[in-house]
Amino acid sequence: MSGNKIVMTSGYSDRTKGAETVINRSFDLLEKAVDEMHLEKVFRFCDYGTADGGTSTGMWKFVCSKVLELGGDREIEVILNDLPKMIGATLVKNGQSLSELYPKVRVLISPESFYNATAVRKSIDLGFSATAMHWLSKLPYHIENHTHPNACPNREDFEAFCRQSAIDWKLLLSRRKEELKPGGKMVFVNLSRNSEGMYLGHNKEDKNLHEVLHNIWRSFKEEGKISLKEYESATFQNFYRSEEEYIKGIEEVGGLTLLDIRTELIKCPYREKFDEDGDVEKFALGLTGTVRSWSEHVFFEAVSSRKDVKKDKRDIVEAFYGRFKEEVANNPTSYSMDYIENYLLVSKAFSPA
Ligand SMILES: C[S@@+](CC[C@H](N)C(=O)[O-])C[C@H]1O[C@@H](n2cnc3c(N)ncnc32)[C@H](O)[C@@H]1O
Repeated sequence: MSGNKIVMTSGYSDRTKGAETVINRSFDLLEKAVDEMHLEKVFRFCDYGTADGGTSTGMWKFVCSKVLELGGDREIEVILNDLPKMIGATLVKNGQSLSELYPKVRVLISPESFYNATAVRKSIDLGFSATAMHWLSKLPYHIENHTHPNACPNREDFEAFCRQSAIDWKLLLSRRKEELKPGGKMVFVNLSRNSEGMYLGHNKEDKNLHEVLHNIWRSFKEEGKISLKEYESATFQNFYRSEEEYIKGIEEVGGLTLLDIRTELIKCPYREKFDEDGDVEKFALGLTGTVRSWSEHVFFEAVSSRKDVKKDKRDIVEAFYGRFKEEVANNPTSYSMDYIENYLLVSKAFSPA
């Protein structure tokens, strides 16, 4: 799949405390999926876009324990998927720790875009993905006057990304449908926008983090730190879909049954801790780190065509997050990063669709 420029900063799970909570709130759907499934001798489970696995190990254990509890001398194959460049030592270590814990569990790694086939046809019993499928297969174009399609002021830009997002969602569902066994299930937890228009970092109480990032980037252009071209080159290749958009894709792909859907707000753990202990420095550092984990590559990419040494590009990005951290520290009660996540349980029809 072309145009894939997605890179999460290393040490992902250490810097994203909220993501594990997001995953753990899907256990009721995972339980329902396993309970309602006809299980064969081998249970195959895939975690799509798992990053370093640190946020998902509790969820893998939950699924494995659930399946093993049902007896039947069953073996489990756990497939951990992410982009090839994201497969690192931490994921391997986390995968190994699972098979060490459960002798009947084997762990495989699938270094492949989830826009492609990641497992053989009709092989998967249960597919899972969290906070990953908002990444688009390609960038429709660079938005000229903002960095994020959900926050940008122009309707045409929003709609262009919304159209790409609809195409991609159907492609993702079709790929997963091919890989699922008949009657197989998918539990997807996706960043989304809720009925009140909130999305990641925009809870309508605190500052919209996408506006904050864009404003700092624009001020870097105004201060001459970056060029106009670099300013315009910073566009997130992702989109936060609405519940209606998730449902529409499922209906249009066909052969899938929506068993459960809900959209939840998960509070920012860094802000919750700050409200308890009032430690401004720790809060500013923690919030900056978590925002940086999913946004840094966008700004780094935007200055990547510079001819000068790598250090200079690094300095710009450091200064950018330095300013972000300073703004948080100056006004901490106006900042948070709440997650808006959509939780889906989908089943593949028994008859070939
Ligand atoms: C925010 S992290 C989420 C990690 C983990 N699932 C969690 O919820 O904490 C998003 C992950 O999706 C992966 N990702 C993005 N696009 C992908 C693609 N096309 N194929 C596979 N993985 C992808 C990224 O590399 C990254 O590791």
